[in-house]
Amino acid sequence: MISPLAALVAIVGFAPAPRPSSPVLLQDTTRGKAVYVKWCAGCHGETGAGDGPGATAMLPRPRNFTGAVYKIRSTASGQLPTDADLLRAIDEGLPGSAMPAWNTRLSDAERRNVLAYIKTFSSFFADTSQHIVALKYSSEPGSGTGDAALKTGRQFYDSIGCRKCHGDQGRGDGPSAPTLKDDAGFPIYAADLHQNWRFRGGASAADIYRRLRTGLDGTPMPSFSDLIDQKFLTDDQLWRLAQYVRSLSPAEAPEVRDVIHAPQVAAVPASPFDSAWARVSSYWFPLVGQVIRKPRWFAPAVSGVWVQAVHDGKTLALRVTWDDRSKSPDSTWLPFAQRVVESVADDDSTPPKAELWPDQLAVQFPRHLSDGMERPYFLMGGPTDPVYQWRWASAPGAGRVLAGVARGIDRFDTLTTALAAQVTYDDGQWRLVFTRALATPDTADEVQLEAGRAIPVAFFAWDGSSGEHGSRMAVSTWYFLALDRPTPPSVFISPVLAMLVTLGLGLVVIRRAQRRGTARVGR
Ligand code: HEC
Ligand code: HEC
Repeated sequence: MISPLAALVAIVGFAPAPRPSSPVLLQDTTRGKAVYVKWCAGCHGETGAGDGPGATAMLPRPRNFTGAVYKIRSTASGQLPTDADLLRAIDEGLPGSAMPAWNTRLSDAERRNVLAYIKTFSSFFADTSQHIVALKYSSEPGSGTGDAALKTGRQFYDSIGCRKCHGDQGRGDGPSAPTLKDDAGFPIYAADLHQNWRFRGGASAADIYRRLRTGLDGTPMPSFSDLIDQKFLTDDQLWRLAQYVRSLSPAEAPEVRDVIHAPQVAAVPASPFDSAWARVSSYWFPLVGQVIRKPRWFAPAVSGVWVQAVHDGKTLALRVTWDDRSKSPDSTWLPFAQRVVESVADDDSTPPKAELWPDQLAVQFPRHLSDGMERPYFLMGGPTDPVYQWRWASAPGAGRVLAGVARGIDRFDTLTTALAAQVTYDDGQWRLVFTRALATPDTADEVQLEAGRAIPVAFFAWDGSSGEHGSRMAVSTWYFLALDRPTPPSVFISPVLAMLVTLGLGLVVIRRAQRRGTARVGR
């Protein structure tokens, strides 16, 4: 029976100093290898080079462990991470990337062992003369959400040049954004600072402060510790900057709810600017890459949409708001789009040549409301199972809006529905309001929007400057729209229950469809 220590010595080729309390002694790289081969190699590659069979579909790519360059560290820029840093990445995953959290899937020992094993891919970790030490961090100053703190933070956001990459309002749309690449040459997005739940290293002000101190090695995101050393700003002011960045995201990560409630109002706001929208609840729906139909798309640029709806008994207004770094088509992003389509492999042997594709959004309904749980296939229906859609595109010209019937991804027949849309793009964000009569003459093809009913609805988005067009898009599953009636709430209990039951089904459908990779399973 080979002891863990002997195994470590055999593989790493050195004996760690015999400190009985050291966690290294509890790590077993032989067992770690078994865990690695089973759970990690598919993405990170057998040799740890970040080139597993799944890797080419991903952006960002899985880490190449042979270089020992890590994003999320407590150590200074350019230094190796501590074991605790690596363990945190393994335990919690890297949100906003394909790297899963393993704390619920692997035992404590398995996670420690695989940690020890991934270090064996690089000789840097074997060099015991290197002391891996975390930076010293001060603790967070109080009143971090107050006006004074946020004002100071904003001041440094401007003066240090965060906006160059992250943009004036922080949506990752700065002037340098279309030029960014990681150290391996892959295109990289400047983080959208309004979506802290997608930050790799954690969402809190303290996490952000640490990222500002350490940088994200291997990416254009630098460390700002030296600015403190140079007395350009104080440690306290860097904390204020972190608190300002924190304040750009909601207090809590958005919870995904199933039903969009559209209250009844006196008159619907047709403009995206109308102040009436501020009083209407906003619902977040996450989008994922379309990976069922070829060509698949694994790198959705739009991670979700915020949706609001109101009606006045005659007309529905639906506002969709989403972050998008570029107002496509935009020729300054064309080389970026080309790099994205070349980096994210799909089923086409040759990547398409990037064009000035527009941004697009689609809202989907069934053509008819049914009393049961029947809904068309969520991925734009099928030949015998069509869906009714509203489609907006940012080009040509001032944009266009169409209503029509989709019979699968490739077939869309326009209808003459009186559908209006008003749109605005500011600082990395689209706001788009559709308005349509609740009842229309074409009851065969156009959904009739009745109050008190559970109206299935789904969303699709394309960012043209990220190479998205056709089936390369981001998709949601079915959710529900409910037009509220000015009646007592008890009346709604049963439709809401019905929606909850069907929702579970929707998720199952997506998973099943992805597994099978076949069409027409949406019932
Ligand atoms: C589904 C693909 C996938 C699997 C499976 C996977 N990873 Fe990852 N991993 C990634 C991606 C993608 C990244 C890079 C994310 C980024 O750069 O933002 C990553 C990054 C990492 C990092 C780097 C953290 C840092 O701070 O830079 C570590 C450590 C890691 N993975 C460990 C593991 C271990 C251990 C396993 C197996 C238990 C594993 N991964 C399985 C996709 C995967
Ligand atoms: C040269 C371009 C550039 C500059 C300047 C820059 N960033 Fe970044 N930043 C990036 C990129 C690229 C990423 C995404 C890295 C990734 O995806 O791994 C990022 C990521 C981040 C993140 C997310 C960290 C995480 O855990 O995922 C935060 C927060 C952030 N930046 C804040 C700032 C602030 C505040 C400043 C100014 C002090 C700043 N950045 C300056 C390019 C930049």
